[in-house]
Amino acid sequence: IDHPAAERPAPWWLRQRERVLQAAAAGTPRYLYHLPTVRERARDLAEVPAIDRRFFALKANPHPAVLRTLEAEGFGFECVSLGEIEHLFGVLPALAPDRVLFTPSFAPRREFEAALARGVHVTLDSLAPLQQWPELFAGREIVLRVDPGFGQGHHEKVRTGGKDAKFGLALESVGEFTAAARAAGARIAGLHAHIGSGIHDAQHWHTVYASLAAVAEGIGTVGFIDVGGGLGVAYDPEAEPFDLEAYAAALAEVKAAYPQYALWVEPGRYLVAEAGALLLHVTQVVRKQGQRRVGADGGMNALMRPALYGAWHEITNLTRAGDPPGEPCEVVGPVCESSDVLGRQRRLPDATAEGDVILVGHAGAYGAVMANRYNLRELPQEDVLDD
Ligand code: LLP
Repeated sequence: IDHPAAERPAPWWLRQRERVLQAAAAGTPRYLYHLPTVRERARDLAEVPAIDRRFFALKANPHPAVLRTLEAEGFGFECVSLGEIEHLFGVLPALAPDRVLFTPSFAPRREFEAALARGVHVTLDSLAPLQQWPELFAGREIVLRVDPGFGQGHHEKVRTGGKDAKFGLALESVGEFTAAARAAGARIAGLHAHIGSGIHDAQHWHTVYASLAAVAEGIGTVGFIDVGGGLGVAYDPEAEPFDLEAYAAALAEVKAAYPQYALWVEPGRYLVAEAGALLLHVTQVVRKQGQRRVGADGGMNALMRPALYGAWHEITNLTRAGDPPGEPCEVVGPVCESSDVLGRQRRLPDATAEGDVILVGHAGAYGAVMANRYNLRELPQEDVLDD
């Protein structure tokens, strides 16, 4: 749906401002997750007819309430480590292993052993596991992660395809992989690709599916094609939201061309980014040589994305939500690094002062889970908000 920013509904954290302020009063830094927004995004995806199975890339947000919410919406889960698998089954002990994908990168042998013992779908993204541990895969179904040869995404650090990326088997090696799988007694049941994160061009997944379908034809045993995640999110309220209709149309078209494979997807960010906010309190307001800086009690320790990728997140003074925009300022955290800046040129109200609640929006994906204890600061708390 294409409505101008001005007509879009206010974000959940403004609609429920009192409850958000209450949550902040319990202490910050604190992430807050709005579960109705997670459900809304899950249901949007459920309406894409070409998709046969949906998985949530839980690396984006492994909070138990988020996992339970998505399980109830019919999602399976994509895990990249044994830690993620164990956490998932700890939260959802009755989850069928068929609803779990293990898609690791350079994982040790024991993680493959444990995943196989659990009965989850196991993905290999190079020849190495078959060559080093062929006995593990005898009589097993496996998934092959292919690198179609190009990367995409919001930043070079999140592109996972192409010659310089460590992920996936190069197309030219598929024949060798198929032979090694046959020799080990393994059956390639599915193909997988994940090319990058934060992609807005819907044609992307069309291209990925088509290139994997071509590979599948040569293998002969493939039943499903997993085109990964990567769906973008509009971090800026002025920007166009992800065009889900174009995504649905692109998938429908390519699915019609190769209907013999089940189409699987595994987004992370799309499902949870908008549902999360990072709450902080202002510690100090400092003016240095003409530059106003608003200091908060969490920075790159609580949310790495601005420092790591130059990512832009909306920043609001929730205490003074009705105030007019003030003089531009930098919003900084308490970490001893110059990269500890959450936002530049932000027009927080001029009255912004110690104790005000600062909200960093769209922080539900790759937020809390990437927080760290640098400078021995405490990890952020997490809370949920539901109807
Ligand atoms: N599948 C695989 C194999 C992945 O590696 C990823 C993300 C996903 C699915 C989900 O991608 P999504 O739908 O969330 O784009 N920390 C970065 C993002 C790194 C993504 C890593 N892989 C950020 O904050 O932008």
